[in-house]
Amino acid sequence: MAGEKSLDGNVAVITGAGSGIGRAIAIGMAAEGARIAICDIDMDGAEQTASMLKEKYGTESLTVHMDVTDESAVNSGMDSVAGHFGRIDTLVANAGIQIVHLIEDFPYEQFRKVVQIHLDGSFLTTKAAVKHMYPQKSGSLIYMGSVHSHEASTQKAAYVAAKHGVLGLSRVMAKEGAKHGVRSNVICPGFVKTPLVERQIPEQAKNLGISEEKVVNEIMLGNTVDQEFTTMEDVADVATFLASFRSNALTGQSIVVSHGWSMR
Ligand SMILES: NC(=O)c1ccc[n+]([C@@H]2O[C@H](COP(=O)([O-])OP(=O)(O)OC[C@H]3O[C@@H](n4cnc5c(N)ncnc54)[C@H](O)[C@@H]3O)[C@@H](O)[C@H]2O)c1
Repeated sequence: MAGEKSLDGNVAVITGAGSGIGRAIAIGMAAEGARIAICDIDMDGAEQTASMLKEKYGTESLTVHMDVTDESAVNSGMDSVAGHFGRIDTLVANAGIQIVHLIEDFPYEQFRKVVQIHLDGSFLTTKAAVKHMYPQKSGSLIYMGSVHSHEASTQKAAYVAAKHGVLGLSRVMAKEGAKHGVRSNVICPGFVKTPLVERQIPEQAKNLGISEEKVVNEIMLGNTVDQEFTTMEDVADVATFLASFRSNALTGQSIVVSHGWSMR
């Protein structure tokens, strides 16, 4: 139909949508007609995203304070989204942090924190979302993986382990969700200039004893085909595509968006 948008009627829950990639996905999906639940622990960031959606597209969104590692906050937050919008069609499990150390210096509690936010958070939000998707017989689970779901880098024991774990969770959900009409896929971006990456540049330079320029050109972009950062909009386009795909043909996959850094 003329003027129809690919996500008209779709309700998308996006964790970590108060910043960076999550915010860009909120904007990209709102542009295609979705209504958005902006979930974050940073409510200032969440409110800024909500204002952007309102200004750009007139989208009414819902901001939800949700720590993805807190089971009761995830369950009550997800229920409040379903109560407000009447349904949940898309989950983007995107909230994340990065902590880098060589293994011999990696404090165990920091390892646990990274794994809990990425992996436990993806598990808890999935469990809470499918409760609403299964009875509808439809839904799309989208996990924010990383090139580090397929490749390894030094200093990233926690992040690489968690991002590989997210890939496994998504593949299980493709199998379990199929009979309920729920698809499950992972987006695996290369380096994207967001606050999460901006913080890593000086940290890695210090830890490795090299210049910040070397961190960017050799460590972050050295294996790309064109020495370019992936953009937030690149990732948002893939998320919108996955949310709007119309059949079970595209499930259990990971899509790598990395300027060729990884070709798996
Ligand atoms: N930036 C990159 O280069 C890159 C590359 C590959 C994958 N990723 C992944 O993309 C996702 C988003 O990262 P980003 O670069 O946009 O980072 P970001 O720091 O800009 O945004 C992360 C958001 O997650 C929120 N958050 C953190 N802990 C949370 C928690 N416990 N509960 C709810 N929200 C929480 C933060 O408040 C923030 O708003 C992460 O999963 C990250 O691993 C990023």
